[in-house]
Amino acid sequence: MSRGSENSQYAALLAQERFVRAFFEESSVGLNLCRMDGHWLESNRAFLDIIGYAADEADDGKLTYWQLTPRKYDAQEAEQLARLSATGKYGPYEKEFIRKDGSLVPVRLNGFVIEVGGEKMIWSFIEDLSSQRELETERLKAIHGSKLAALGEMAASIAHEINTPLAIISAFAFTLPGSIAAGDQALITEALTEIQRAVERAGAITAGLRRLSRGTAKSAFEPVELKTVITEAMGLAAARTRAEGLVLELDLKTTAMVQGNGVQLLQVLLNLVNNAVDAVKGAAIRQLAVRARDEGAFAEVIVEDTGPGIAPEHAGRLFDRFFTTKEPDEGTGLGLSISRDIVQSMHGTLTWDRVGDRTRFMVRLPRMTPAGAPS
Ligand SMILES: Nc1ncnc2c1ncn2[C@@H]1O[C@H](COP(=O)(O)OP(=O)(O)OP(=O)(O)O)[C@@H](O)[C@H]1O
Ligand SMILES: [Mg+2]
Repeated sequence: MSRGSENSQYAALLAQERFVRAFFEESSVGLNLCRMDGHWLESNRAFLDIIGYAADEADDGKLTYWQLTPRKYDAQEAEQLARLSATGKYGPYEKEFIRKDGSLVPVRLNGFVIEVGGEKMIWSFIEDLSSQRELETERLKAIHGSKLAALGEMAASIAHEINTPLAIISAFAFTLPGSIAAGDQALITEALTEIQRAVERAGAITAGLRRLSRGTAKSAFEPVELKTVITEAMGLAAARTRAEGLVLELDLKTTAMVQGNGVQLLQVLLNLVNNAVDAVKGAAIRQLAVRARDEGAFAEVIVEDTGPGIAPEHAGRLFDRFFTTKEPDEGTGLGLSISRDIVQSMHGTLTWDRVGDRTRFMVRLPRMTPAGAPS
C-alpha cells in the first residue's frame, strides 16, 4: 500500500470518527454508554444536561445508573433487565432520574447491548419528557379551570333546581301526619309517591355534581357508560333549560361504553348544552334536542338547537381558545376548544353543522368492544 493511500485511508477514518463524534455530541437526544453493571462510561451533552452533571463528574465510571434511579422503579428495572438479557434490547419505557440538584426528571429510555473489545456494554437513548409533561399539566389545568367556571355559572340555577324537590318533600311531609291520623290511604300513597319522585329528581342532579367534583387532575381513562353521562349532564342542565322555557327533546338510543375520563366527558356535554341554551335565549322558537345513537364502531351524541346559528365570519374561529361572542361574565371562549381537546384525547371528533333551521354539534366516539379495547 502506497504512503498516499494509507494517508487517505487514515484521513477517511479520522473523518468518520469525527463524524460519529459530532453525531454523538450534537444529538439532542441523550446518549450514553454504560457497563452491564450500570457504571457510566460516556455521556453526550444532551444526557449530561438532563441529569445536571458535568462530564468529569459522570463519565469513566464515576456515576452509576443505579445511583440516579429512584428505588420506586426497582420492579420495572428488573423487568427491563430481563428483556435486555433475553433479547439484547430494552425499552422504550418511562421513568425518572434523580438530577444532581435532587430534583426528578421524567425520561423515556431505550437501548441495546453492543460488544466493545470483547466486553458487553449498553447503549442507551434518553429523551427528556419534562416539557411534554408540562404541556399535559397545562392542559389539565385549563380543563380544570373551565370546569370551575362552568360550575360557578350553574351554581345558582342548580341550587334552585334542588330547592324545588326539597319544597315538594317538605310540603308533603307536612301533610303526612294529618293523612295518617285520618287513615286516608289515597293521600298517604300520593304523598309518598311525590316524595319519592322529588328525591329522584334531586338525586339526578347530585349524581352529576358528584361526578363533576371528582378530580380532573388525573387524566386516567376508564370505561364510561355514555348514556349515564348524558343523563347526568341533562340533570345538571335541567335548571337552565327550565328557567329559559325550552322545549327539550331527549332521545338516547345508545348502550355504548366509551374509553375516557367521565368527568371530562360530562364537561364536554355540559358545554354543548349550555352553548345551545345560550343560543336560543332570544329566539322565537326555543327547542333543544339531545340525541344519542350507536353507529357501528362509533357512538354519536347530537346537541341541536333552534338558535340563530353561527355567523359565517365566526365559523372558522369557533374552536379557537378564548373565541367568544358572549359578555366577559357569560363566557370565556374556552368551552369548545377544551371540549374538542377532550374528545380528541378519546380518539373521537367534535364537529358542527347547520341542519335546516338548527345548529347541530356532534360528538363521535369510538365504542369499546365487549372485551374492553376500543374497537
Ligand atoms: N349552539 C351554538 N349556536 C350559536 N353559536 C354558538 C353555539 N355554540 C357555540 N357558539 C359560538 O361559539 C363561541 C365559542 O363557544 P365556546 O363554548 O368555546 O365559548 P363560550 O360559550 O363563549 O364560553 P365558555 O364556554 O368558555 O363559557 C360562542 O361564544 C358562540 O359565539
Ligand atoms: Mg361554551
